[in-house]
Amino acid sequence: MSAAKPAIVLAIRGWNPGPWLERFSQAFPERAVLSAADPDVPLPERYYLGAWKPDPAIYRREPKPQAIFSLGAGVDHITRSNPPEGVPIGRVIDPDLSGRMAEYVTLHALWHFRQMTAIVAAQAARRWMSQDQPAARDVVVGLMGVGAMGQAAAAALLALGFKVVGWGRNARTGLGFEAFHGTEGLDAFLRTTDILVSLLPSTPQTRGLIGRAVFSRLHRPGPIGGPCFINAGRGDAVNEAELLAALTDGTLRAASLDVFQTEPLPPDSPFWSLPNVLVTPHNAADSSPEAIVGVVRAEIDRLEAGLPLRTAIDLAQGY
Ligand code: NDP
Ligand code: OXD
Repeated sequence: MSAAKPAIVLAIRGWNPGPWLERFSQAFPERAVLSAADPDVPLPERYYLGAWKPDPAIYRREPKPQAIFSLGAGVDHITRSNPPEGVPIGRVIDPDLSGRMAEYVTLHALWHFRQMTAIVAAQAARRWMSQDQPAARDVVVGLMGVGAMGQAAAAALLALGFKVVGWGRNARTGLGFEAFHGTEGLDAFLRTTDILVSLLPSTPQTRGLIGRAVFSRLHRPGPIGGPCFINAGRGDAVNEAELLAALTDGTLRAASLDVFQTEPLPPDSPFWSLPNVLVTPHNAADSSPEAIVGVVRAEIDRLEAGLPLRTAIDLAQGY
């Protein structure tokens, strides 16, 4: 008789775990699918851990998992919790998730490019607002982060006619747009950018990276009357005090903010009431159990065939 296949343990906080347990149980009838919610229930002898912002205590428990899968694209909720050494960590790289991010980035780039905040205010005042509207081809969207999310956003922006430039840690070619990298490439990237989009992960190197020194180097006044900022990466990549100042003193014309240092955004945060800011509730790209179960299945198949994970992160780099 062959040994039972490793189980799947789901450790989820901040999302309703019910649909995840249901979907994973349907998709893996050959395995036990359990919730890690109850710390008194023993962990199976062999299991894979599907994690979203779990209680870090899960990583101290025995036995250790065969692999850890982040149920989203970001892995900061794992990397900052001292995951067990030597256990492979995968994440979500999937067209469903990156397609949602492309929707978010294009929606907000178009919103600012089309001066929608002013138009909505003019409608409320019953005022026919005539305005110059540049062409998308005259506007440069600069993507900080040209990984799975950045590349999907770039494809959608290019299809709309925007110019796109990118910036990452390493040199990348063959993206279909110009990409800068490293500290040495940051200045040229910023100076050409009208709409800055952060799709950076949270790592020790990115935390606090985006502040006044970044905003003040953006292209100005530019074709849309001043630079705009869209943050759908992670809140802690931004110095929020400097962002607030830049939005108040005109260094930035406007912003769309999906991610924050503290989430949910506290009711007394000044970002809620700035007229030039759109606040969204960290929903730029939601993880869908239907799509993500397929990513986890494919990765388990690879591991059990002796192959490395396709979506493995580099723990030393933090993403
Ligand atoms: P990837 O790992 O595919 O891409 C990350 C990009 O960031 C890469 O281009 C990488 O550079 C770049 N980068 C990392 N560190 C640095 C650094 N120190 N300096 C410059 N560039 C750096 O991640 P994804 O594109 O899949 O996801 C990006 C992030 O988006 C996630 O980590 C998550 O935080 C966020 N996210 C937010 C969601 C939301 O709903 N708001 C939903 C999904 C994701 P290089 O190309 O050289 O590797
Ligand atoms: C993610 C997120 O990382 O939703 O997937 O933030």
